[in-house]
Amino acid sequence: MESSEAIRPEKMGPIVMKETWNTPGSLVTWERADNIYICRGERGGIVIVFLNDEMFRMKVFQNRIPDLTTTAAIMLESCVPHLFPVEETEEQLIFTTSTIRLILDKHSFGIKVENMTGKVIMQQNLISWSPRGASHTEYDMQSESHFYGLGEKSSFLDKRGEHYTNWNTDVFAPHLPEIEALYVTIPLLIHMHGDLSYGLFLDNTGRSDFDMRSHGVAFTIGCDTGAYDVYFINGPEMKDVVKRYTALTGRIALPPKWSIGYHQSRYSYMNQQEVLQLARTFREKKIPCDVIYLDIHYMDEYRVFTFDPVNFPEPQKMIAELAELGVRIVPIVDPGVKKDPKFKVYKEGVLDKHFCSRLEGDIFFGEVWPGISAFPDFSDSRTSEWWGDLHKYYTDLGIQGIWNDMNEPAVFNESKTMDLDVMHFNNGRPVTHEEYHNLYGMMMSKATYEGMAEHLQGERPFVLTRAGYAGIQRYAAVWTGDNRSFWEHMAMAIPMTLNMGLSGLAFAGPDIGGFAHHTSAQLLVRWTQMGVFFPYCRNHSSIGTMRQEPWSFGEEVENILREFIGLRYRWMPHLYNLFHEAEDCGLPVIRPLILEYPRDPHLTNLCDQFLLGENVLVAPVYRPDTDHRSIYLPEGCWIDYWDGAVQEGGRHILDAAPLHIMPMYVKAGTFVAEGPLKQYAQEEVEEMVTFHLYGAEARKGFEAGYTLYEDDGHSFNYRKGSYSELVVTAAGEAGCLKINWTYAYREYEPERERLRFALCYPFFQPARISGLSEISMEQLEEGQQGWGRNGKNGAIIVQVQDVSEGGQLVIEAEE
Ligand code: GLC
Repeated sequence: MESSEAIRPEKMGPIVMKETWNTPGSLVTWERADNIYICRGERGGIVIVFLNDEMFRMKVFQNRIPDLTTTAAIMLESCVPHLFPVEETEEQLIFTTSTIRLILDKHSFGIKVENMTGKVIMQQNLISWSPRGASHTEYDMQSESHFYGLGEKSSFLDKRGEHYTNWNTDVFAPHLPEIEALYVTIPLLIHMHGDLSYGLFLDNTGRSDFDMRSHGVAFTIGCDTGAYDVYFINGPEMKDVVKRYTALTGRIALPPKWSIGYHQSRYSYMNQQEVLQLARTFREKKIPCDVIYLDIHYMDEYRVFTFDPVNFPEPQKMIAELAELGVRIVPIVDPGVKKDPKFKVYKEGVLDKHFCSRLEGDIFFGEVWPGISAFPDFSDSRTSEWWGDLHKYYTDLGIQGIWNDMNEPAVFNESKTMDLDVMHFNNGRPVTHEEYHNLYGMMMSKATYEGMAEHLQGERPFVLTRAGYAGIQRYAAVWTGDNRSFWEHMAMAIPMTLNMGLSGLAFAGPDIGGFAHHTSAQLLVRWTQMGVFFPYCRNHSSIGTMRQEPWSFGEEVENILREFIGLRYRWMPHLYNLFHEAEDCGLPVIRPLILEYPRDPHLTNLCDQFLLGENVLVAPVYRPDTDHRSIYLPEGCWIDYWDGAVQEGGRHILDAAPLHIMPMYVKAGTFVAEGPLKQYAQEEVEEMVTFHLYGAEARKGFEAGYTLYEDDGHSFNYRKGSYSELVVTAAGEAGCLKINWTYAYREYEPERERLRFALCYPFFQPARISGLSEISMEQLEEGQQGWGRNGKNGAIIVQVQDVSEGGQLVIEAEE
């Protein structure tokens, strides 16, 4: 006898069910309520909210008007609805701001954005949704369209021709161009066509996809679940989009200076002797270093908030000894809490209901490093506070930085993550993991950052994370996860980090030298040369691989690495300035050339070289046994950092690049601020800033400028006004160059006596400088005022007293 089970649907073979997707149909009514425009069609509609003249939000609804709360990505103060005039015609609804017109076609529900000259910026043709809650939209794509952003994605810079999925995933291997989802989700697409650019930010924390490949004349954006909630961000330049997107989702918090030094890591430094020895070796070898990481082996059987009693018996003593050497530790903290009724954190978490559970109340358990583990529900502020508070354990030991890993969250199972039906409490608005997934990692880092900040009492915390969602830049730096020691991965780190920068993640970078597989002497050299100019600079390698500390490949390699890591420290004032700029206006520390030269067609997909800030061009060598490389210099005049050779831009050049050289060019007529070489960022050495002016000219019309931002580098006092801004300008006249410096703001007093101005490879020979005498380099080093010629690179160095009222130099050229 058979029961009805015999005809269970899944036993009946494939059943073809056609899903009917819906569109809103034609516009039926529209209304305005509290500055929100509700446009209803026959079967659904959209809500339009203008945030300012350049940005609006569109949220699709089917029946009821949607709730307009946002995800944690959005800075609420940037999301206040604004009123703009609306005009209704027979065919259209037209919303007008001072710079754009949003035109809704009443018949098709198509949405077009034009600028004031009538040029179409964006055209959205189709909004549709499935009965199961998926959404899909289609936008026009032109033959000259190029795409950027999307956060941490593999492949090249321009995302035209690519398809990506957003679903935070622990991908140990492989990081290949065909891998569509990595650890971080930033659903921001920047579309550049002709001289127009705009961004679309899809604020959806479930699975979404962006397809710039399949349709030829259109690109599409879709999401599997949750609302289709999109922000239009106007340009017209890509820089405007980046600035506006980061106003919407927040900008990096200025990191403590030590966290932008060189970091050394390994999975794992196994015991406290090894860690101390490592720190001493850096100091003995005079290779600058600020941070050593403790990977999972520091813990007691991988229990978070513990130290292993055998291998790390005296963490406090170790940390104090490291502090004397100027080295900090950053321990790893994963979300998985070991299931162990004797483990305090686990017990507390269960008793106080902090762990992610199913609707029915059973805790979700998954396997990670500690074995069976439970996962805190960071969507609940109560849990986030609890977690943040647990970090007192680390701050009490003198720790100021935390490394969040496995927070996609990664689970050792088939789906690689938490079951989709696990619930997140979400402060009383429960959602499934399916809807919440991509936010999990960011909320962990938010809890960590806030807990650390609370317990550090005024010191800036540093958090590093592997997973994240839009807005993560407010809480953490992001590293690009488990890359490999492949030349290809070194090359791919450039476009990846550049697009992360365009997506708000100004503080990002890969594991230098490569994490998995075995590095080689040359790869480590080339990768470090490049890596010291990346915002985040950490050498990390996996268990069982070749060692890759800077001295692992003999003296020649060690010397080159010392030189380049030292360069990062000498350039710290410039780097810190760029981090300040990132906090101030959202622009990334390293930039694709297209960001600065948007009209140069050679640059749309150029990503084997990049800019540090606006004016320093870095061209890494990313193939073995290569001692030349071709470099594209954009318009202008460029000066070879190493030998001063002058190159006209707007063309390709072939440059020599022996192993100890990575080609670098500085744009003529620009400044770079350098400081003294230090062994760690806040080493107390005699302070000095040297403003290096490249390619100065003694002719009318020559101009250069630089503003140096400074503060104490470690506290939040700068937010209360304790910082300084030193403005330096250079202006040419016939036969002379005038340099002015003045403190535009000086509520923080830099501890130094002297300032230097270095004319690097000037286009004239100075004869007299403001009545100062020409003295030797030794006399300059001793602190005398005057000027001298630096034999090494021919720079003219002028030394003056650093006085609060500033000053002027008149540099007269030889007749
Ligand atoms: C993950 C991380 C890696 C870390 C390892 C052990 O693979 O991405 O950086 O070293 O876990 O904690």
